[in-house]
Amino acid sequence: MRSMYWEDGRLYILDQVRLPLEVEYIVCQDYQDVAGAISQMKVRGAPAIGAAAAYGMALGASTVNTGSRDVFLEELEKIGRELIGTRPTAVNLQWAVNRVLDRVRAATDKEIAALKELVLQEADTIFLEDIASNQKMGAYGESLVPDGARILTHCNAGALATAGFGTALGVIRAAHQKGKKVHVYAGETRPFMQGTRLTTWELMSDGIPVTLLADSMAGYLMAKGGVDLVIVGADRIAGNGDVANKIGTYSLAVLAKSHQIPFYVAAPLSTVDFSLLSGDDIPIEERAAEELTHFRGKRIAPEGVDVWNPAFDVTPHRFIDAIITDAGVVRPPYLDNLKQVAAKED
Ligand code: MRU
Repeated sequence: MRSMYWEDGRLYILDQVRLPLEVEYIVCQDYQDVAGAISQMKVRGAPAIGAAAAYGMALGASTVNTGSRDVFLEELEKIGRELIGTRPTAVNLQWAVNRVLDRVRAATDKEIAALKELVLQEADTIFLEDIASNQKMGAYGESLVPDGARILTHCNAGALATAGFGTALGVIRAAHQKGKKVHVYAGETRPFMQGTRLTTWELMSDGIPVTLLADSMAGYLMAKGGVDLVIVGADRIAGNGDVANKIGTYSLAVLAKSHQIPFYVAAPLSTVDFSLLSGDDIPIEERAAEELTHFRGKRIAPEGVDVWNPAFDVTPHRFIDAIITDAGVVRPPYLDNLKQVAAKED
């Protein structure tokens, strides 16, 4: 399945809120449609929202009506700020928008029409590079997956969360494609249910064995010896290796450490935010109370109840055995080793 595709000047996004019951693409005709789709989580997952935002920039650029390069850039920066503002935690969103803006800034010799083309080209490049980097992560990461492994994952870090192939699920997919027998345990991922709705659907579509469990069951499964390793994705990684990912990831990491189960994070280097030295500095999105007080539009909690709904948590690097990147598997100490692989890529 494709999380999104570009056709005839429009962005088509697979509506992940309706999955798995309905498989429908929404059409984005302008950047506001893309911004709405990101904030409503019709498209979600760090690399996917980065790629969608890049195409949002292309849609926005196409409507800027000016003959002045400076005005064009100013308008594009404004659109970029709006897209970045939709979700604060995943660094891929600002990374993709800034990459498009840098490309335009560098093209000092181009006319407006050519700049508009350039924005679309850069979005295409970001999209295609993401698939390639996920495949690289799969190739590096599958060596950490023994034949017969029972793997616990959280949220959805698959093809749906990226331009294609996936990060954590990409590693699992690569192991499966290599002929290894793997079995995935997908935590339901309260409250948005990405595990229940998306990871199960994606893995079942690919014929990869998967068992769904409630988040609260993971500890007992580990205690019974049912998990060989945990692999999750990431929304932002601080320079020291602290990882922001879907709420509930931290609990799994602590449980894994306590049961001596390897805990791996799979993410492209573009998810590493070297400007932050610690996970404490990662902004954590808080979402609407209704995600907890209501179920399928029906109230399930008492009227007026106080609610705390952070969408992500931060797992300190000491709980992480390795970070699988598109430039190789990085082990602690992350501060030095992440920088080293990034420098080699430049
Ligand atoms: O709120 P979501 O569904 O966008 O959160 C997604 C996650 O936390 C994923 O694990 C992360 O973005 C990595 S996706 C390859």
